[in-house]
Order: sequence, then C-alpha cells, then structure tokens
Amino acid sequence: MQDQATTIFLSDAAATRSLGVALGQTLPAGSVLLLEGELGSGKTTLVQGLGEGLGIQDTIDSPTFTLINEYFEGRLPLYHLDLYRLNKTATAELSLETYWDGTEAELGIVAIEWAERLPYKPANYLAIHLIYDVNRGRHLTIRAISQGNSGQDDHGQDNHGQWDAVLAATGVLGDDDRPSTVYL
Ligand SMILES: Nc1ncnc2c1ncn2[C@@H]1O[C@H](COP(=O)(O)OP(=O)(O)OP(=O)(O)O)[C@@H](O)[C@H]1O
Ligand SMILES: [Mg+2]
Repeated sequence: MQDQATTIFLSDAAATRSLGVALGQTLPAGSVLLLEGELGSGKTTLVQGLGEGLGIQDTIDSPTFTLINEYFEGRLPLYHLDLYRLNKTATAELSLETYWDGTEAELGIVAIEWAERLPYKPANYLAIHLIYDVNRGRHLTIRAISQGNSGQDDHGQDNHGQWDAVLAATGVLGDDDRPSTVYL
C-alpha cells in the first residue's frame, strides 16, 4: 500500500527522463499525471521521457504557449498540457475532463504541467511534485491518488490498489515493500 509519497532523487536530467520512460512503458490508458514544481524543475523533461517510453518519435516541446500538444503515434495517445499561463477560471473553461473521462478524446496518458492551476481534479491520478533543493538536490515525490467518486480534494477515501501494480511494473517503484526513497 502506498500510504505516503515515494521520494525519488534525480541525479541529472537523464535520470528524470528515464523515470518518464519507465512510466511511459507501463502506465495504462486513462492515466493522469498532475505535475507540480517550480520553473525549470524538470516537468517537461519527465514528459519527454514519457513520450519516449510510449514510443513517440516526435520532439516533445514545452506547450507553454500552445497549452496542449497531442501525440498519437505511440502505444497510447499522449496529451501534454501546460497551464502556466492560465488561472483557474480560464482553465475551467477548457473542459479538460474530456481528456480523462473518455467521452470525447481517446483515452491515453494525460500529463499536466502546473497542475496546481486546475480547478478540479480527476478521481484517479498520480500526483508528482518536482523539487529543486540546493541542499538535498533535485528530487520528486510521487503519490498515487485514487478516489471512489470524483474527488474534490486529496484527502478523500484513498484506494491505492489499482496503482500499486502499475507503479511496481515500472521497476522503479517496488511492490508491497516499496522503498519510500529511491535514487536514480
Ligand atoms: N534531475 C535533473 N538534474 C539536472 N537538471 C535537470 C534535471 N531535470 C531536468 N533538468 C534540466 O532542467 C532544465 C529545465 O527542465 P524542464 O524544462 O524539464 O523544467 P520544467 O519544470 O518543465 O520548466 P517550466 O516550469 O519552465 O515548464 C532543463 O535544462 C533540463 O535538462
Ligand atoms: Mg515545462
């Protein structure tokens, strides 16, 4: 059971990317990654790895100005969003839930940079916080959030069952005895 966040230390950009590759190879359709972290903390680098893991050949650029980039050539569609330039009201008008509720867009992997700008969240997602700490170095925390009904906050009923197997399959985050700190 993943009751608390796993911390992963990222020695360089290649480590950030390789974590993304592992996730891209294993995450199922409908996975949503909510990425938070300061400017330049490595969010796009992680998504570039995700694209590589999905088998996407296209260059994955930061969608800071385009807001949303969609890629359909990999194992699953990748929807890469960057909400940096939006506030919550503007974000609400985008109806982003169509990317994860399966009604309009084909289910794929949704990776959202500056996810703190989201006015609502999906019921299930991976919360990833990237941190640049001058003392401890670059690292991230990853937390699997799974709620029975469409959750309004991170503190509702958590049911981690579905994520455990997925994260174990990355080979980075172990199974039941998953270490809470990993060095890449
Ligand atoms: N673990 C790491 N160690 C050292 N450098 C890294 C690491 N991860 C990413 N970088 C480098 O940091 C820079 C910024 O990374 P990136 O663009 O992915 O950040 P970002 O969080 O997407 O930034 P923004 O907030 O502008 O969207 C890049 O040059 C990238 O190669
Ligand atoms: Mg970025």
